[in-house]
Amino acid sequence: MGKKKMPQNLKKGPEPRKDIANIAPYVPGKPIEELTRQYGIAKPVKLASNENPLGPPPIALEAIQKALSSLHRYPDGAARILVAKLAQKLGVEDGCVILGNGSDEIIQVLALAYLNPGDEAVMSDPSFLMYEISVRTAGGVPVKIPLKNMTWDMDATLAAIGQRTRIVFVNNPNNPTGASISKAEFSAFLQQIPSHVIVCVDEAYIDFVRDKNCAIGTDYLKSDNNTVAVLRTFSKIYGMAGLRLGYGIMPQEICGILNRIRLPFNANSLAQAAATAVLDDDGFVAKTRKTVHEGLDYLYGQMEQMGLDFVPSQANYFLVKMPVSADEVFEALLQKGVIVRSMRAYGYPDHIRVSAGLFEENQRFVDALKAVLA
Ligand SMILES: Cc1ncc(COP(=O)(O)O)c(C=O)c1O
Repeated sequence: MGKKKMPQNLKKGPEPRKDIANIAPYVPGKPIEELTRQYGIAKPVKLASNENPLGPPPIALEAIQKALSSLHRYPDGAARILVAKLAQKLGVEDGCVILGNGSDEIIQVLALAYLNPGDEAVMSDPSFLMYEISVRTAGGVPVKIPLKNMTWDMDATLAAIGQRTRIVFVNNPNNPTGASISKAEFSAFLQQIPSHVIVCVDEAYIDFVRDKNCAIGTDYLKSDNNTVAVLRTFSKIYGMAGLRLGYGIMPQEICGILNRIRLPFNANSLAQAAATAVLDDDGFVAKTRKTVHEGLDYLYGQMEQMGLDFVPSQANYFLVKMPVSADEVFEALLQKGVIVRSMRAYGYPDHIRVSAGLFEENQRFVDALKAVLA
């Protein structure tokens, strides 16, 4: 049976809200399966979405296997076991932890809960695309502060905060540059933040940081003068991006507000089971860090040998400057079975972003890049 033909453009019908019509959709990394379909490449290498190269933690797979027989039941909507375990690990009250369908969802509910139409949210430019999408979804106004030399411009960020600002997103380390913010900078920043502003510190990559001076958001939660909300995820260091689970640590009052509008079962039962198990797996975390750090060091060395400028990073990815347009290199690498990200959409038309992979994957990227640039 053929597919029913639907009109491509509605000639009449409801208009979406103006601010929604202005939202550019989130562009994810190209999936491996699509490359196989498009170019017939049997084993592509994906270094495009800052995923964990080791694969899922075995302990998570075991927990999922056990949880499968209860799939006909709704999950615990409050995820009590996981929340309690996270809270204990972080040294906070259970009420200060909120889960999301990825930290993406927490960014969204924070914007929906705290931005009235026309309220502003300050963020660096470039930074993670979901901040702008969520702020616009809420009817708020994104105020974008260009990075300075690919790092956070604290003074310009402070200068942009005004009466209408409700949230400032601080991405530490920054995606896509990998730059981190020091303890001294962040303390100085907080001292100048007015009390009507929530400082949302997105720490999706915090576990990869090697700089001992990097600010850690959870150290600032108890500050009397500021409202700090920290976001973390099981997608990166814990290798569970496909399960969609992120968490926020923030004052109990804010968690209470966000809990009113999040979807009731936003953390699915398999994700809850896997995450509860993996929190005990320090070995997996250590192995991931080692793989990523060794991978980055190898890649930096290779870029140096090739005479390419790169941006050393505190995360699990880094930017490399290409002698030709990043879009061209991205396409040519695809044809060789290697998926990276062109940074054109992020405002760096000459840079590609490469996630650290397994040693063989990194080698394949280097070989393909050499061939492409030859
Ligand atoms: C900076 C940053 N924050 C948040 C996220 C979202 O992570 P999650 O998979 O938990 O939604 C990402 C994902 O790539 C990210 O790069």
